[in-house]
Amino acid sequence: MNVNGRRYRTIWARPGHDKVIQVIDQRQLPHKFVVEDLKSLDDVARAIKEMHVRGAGLIGAAAGFGMYLAALEAPKHRFDDFMLMAAEKLKGTRPTAVNLAVSVERQLKAMAAVSSTGGKISAALETAKEIADEDSDYCMRIGEHGLKMIRDISKKKKGKVVNILTHCNAGWLAFVDYGSATAPIYLAFGKGIKVHVWVDETRPWNQGSRLTAWELGQQGIPHTVIADNTGGHLMQSGLVDLVIVGSDRTTRTGDVANKIGTYLKALAAKDNNVPFYVALPSSSIDWNTRSGSDIPIEQRGEEEVKFAQGLSDGKIRKILLTPSSSRAANYGFDVTPARLVTGLITERGICQASEKGILKLFPERGGNG
Ligand code: MRU
Repeated sequence: MNVNGRRYRTIWARPGHDKVIQVIDQRQLPHKFVVEDLKSLDDVARAIKEMHVRGAGLIGAAAGFGMYLAALEAPKHRFDDFMLMAAEKLKGTRPTAVNLAVSVERQLKAMAAVSSTGGKISAALETAKEIADEDSDYCMRIGEHGLKMIRDISKKKKGKVVNILTHCNAGWLAFVDYGSATAPIYLAFGKGIKVHVWVDETRPWNQGSRLTAWELGQQGIPHTVIADNTGGHLMQSGLVDLVIVGSDRTTRTGDVANKIGTYLKALAAKDNNVPFYVALPSSSIDWNTRSGSDIPIEQRGEEEVKFAQGLSDGKIRKILLTPSSSRAANYGFDVTPARLVTGLITERGICQASEKGILKLFPERGGNG
């Protein structure tokens, strides 16, 4: 997508020097646009854990490149042991988004198919690039399927603005390109359909107000940032035509883990007959899990709740919001049960959030789980 008119992905191998992986340091957005070099397994693990990069798709792509950097570092005489250690290290960085483990396993398989160390390193680079390209391609296809839905709503409204509410950042910054929830919006806007996005601020890390608002602004999409508790009121007032969110992990039965607060939006949408869609590439489906209650929910440090970050006197600073002695709890995700989800928008089309619906699009998964 475009940043100040220049095309970027969120992760790439430095041109002419592919031992360095480059990412956008999302901790500094929207105030500073900083490209960061990642040169080692530890750099990638830290970048994922400390959320320089975040969002299920991008975490998956970063893990793919992390395995490649690990392969470059691995001592020849204990290459396989080192790679298993690297795999565990990356998988341990963040527990909820399944894309991370999927990418790591894919890398181990790709490397196992080659015998020489040089061949394994090349396979790891190729696979990392494949994972990134696939993520971008899937998001584009999600966009095409979701576009039809927005176009239908626009026709029903006789061309009036389609108001879409989104939570967290399931945008370009959460993937390699386009985003999942945002891809249909970008395409609709590009086709001249009038759209407006309600952006949940998404406390405590403010992925909505910092990241989604920034990336929509960069593409020129009309949007309004709202405090997290506003969505229900807007839905009651007829000001939301559609909710689209992303997913960090969706079970094979259609339960959806996504950023904390998503469940409350789904409840409000159900009560107000507002369609609630989840846009996700199949790399976010956990084929081995049936119930959302089995999805591990990340708990992060309390300082993310107690402090807020913003720009002051030209510097990015943190300020304390709570009594310093108060305890805070920081649950990163919640689970929206399939019964509250109107449909899943995947790279293969839109389906019901149910095992039957999902398997219609992915029949080859019928045997698993
Ligand atoms: O904690 P984050 O910022 O990694 O959480 C991201 C989300 O919850 C997104 O909505 C999710 O990853 C779906 S889009 C990739």
